[in-house]
Amino acid sequence: MSAMLYEPITIRGTEFRNRIAMSPMCMHSADSHGHVSDFHLVHYGARALGGAGLVMLETNSVLPNGPIGPGDLGIWDDDHVEGLSRLAGAIQRFGARAGVQIGHAGRQLGIDSATPVAPSALPFAPGSRVPEALTAEGIKDVVEAFRKAAVRAKAAGFDVIEVHAAHGYLLHEFLSPISNRRTDEYGGSHENRYRFVREVIDAVRGEWDGPLFVRISSTDYSEGGNTPADHVVFGRWMKEQGVDLIDASSGGIAPVKVDSYPSYQVPAAELIRREVGIRTGAVGLIESGRQAEEILRNGRADIVLVGREMLKDPFWARTAADELRTPIAPPQQYTRYGSAWQRSQPPLPAAPLAATTA
Ligand SMILES: Cc1cc2nc3c(=O)[nH]c(=O)nc-3n(C[C@H](O)[C@H](O)[C@H](O)COP(=O)(O)O)c2cc1C
Repeated sequence: MSAMLYEPITIRGTEFRNRIAMSPMCMHSADSHGHVSDFHLVHYGARALGGAGLVMLETNSVLPNGPIGPGDLGIWDDDHVEGLSRLAGAIQRFGARAGVQIGHAGRQLGIDSATPVAPSALPFAPGSRVPEALTAEGIKDVVEAFRKAAVRAKAAGFDVIEVHAAHGYLLHEFLSPISNRRTDEYGGSHENRYRFVREVIDAVRGEWDGPLFVRISSTDYSEGGNTPADHVVFGRWMKEQGVDLIDASSGGIAPVKVDSYPSYQVPAAELIRREVGIRTGAVGLIESGRQAEEILRNGRADIVLVGREMLKDPFWARTAADELRTPIAPPQQYTRYGSAWQRSQPPLPAAPLAATTA
């Protein structure tokens, strides 16, 4: 059996060496202005060296009042581009594609020095900070911030942009009836709740012609909240707008305990893939190569995103390949390092992007 997990995939003209992505995970290791640090270069570079096809950075906040927590990366200022460019280059140097997730925390702002904003002045939970409801002008400003973030992502040389519309943050807050009680054109019907996300996607698409992913929360796990069926409606509009892949996560809009188990979010990725006819990403407790292979082979998703397992094992892509008995080559430095012959050779050329042997 040759594993589908290791077949290259091309999305909007960009080839990925395999179907394994590192899932975006906040590392809270930037300085207080959101700049890239040495930690990020080592942490993300290691997963690229470890064989992932795509390394997706954690959420980069599009505005200073949008971080999920202290030390989040920022993409709200032109002076973020230099560090992000080094980081994208470090990932690409080792054969992976570099993705950047852009987002805004909305009412779940994780720093004290700004005021949270949201579609409606409703706190996340009793005792949480009460956000300010965005005015029509405020909405325009956030849309513009996403547009500028796309310009900076392009300047930094990323291969993929993912818009974060999940986990109870600002875009999700507009999509969900739980957090969006607006009576203007941004609240109420599916079309109105989607309007803000539509404007953000159009703004990003206007600047970015590479692969565009959107992360969603397919279910709100709450009475009156969104379900995967609602995301079939939103997903059709995303497809029309030129979104290439829907990354199907879940939850986060309300303080609800989620009963998670292996592949628990995969049925939503499968439903959206089938009903909308768009590529999807599966994420959530995907732990083994065999589990990932089942998801791809049965047409339930097009890529798998691996989070915590890749924190434990930067070489998860190789571990899973061994399990599937389709071993992939280690980094070339690991095979030749130390030989007298190698030391006599000129420096190695940069690894080609699509190679599995970076
Ligand atoms: C430390 C940590 C930070 C995370 N930060 C983000 C984030 O910035 N953006 C996001 O969309 N998801 C974030 N997530 C969710 C993961 O991307 C992933 O969806 C989740 O952990 C489930 O996948 P897993 O079971 O493979 O870990 C985070 C998860 C963890 C553990």
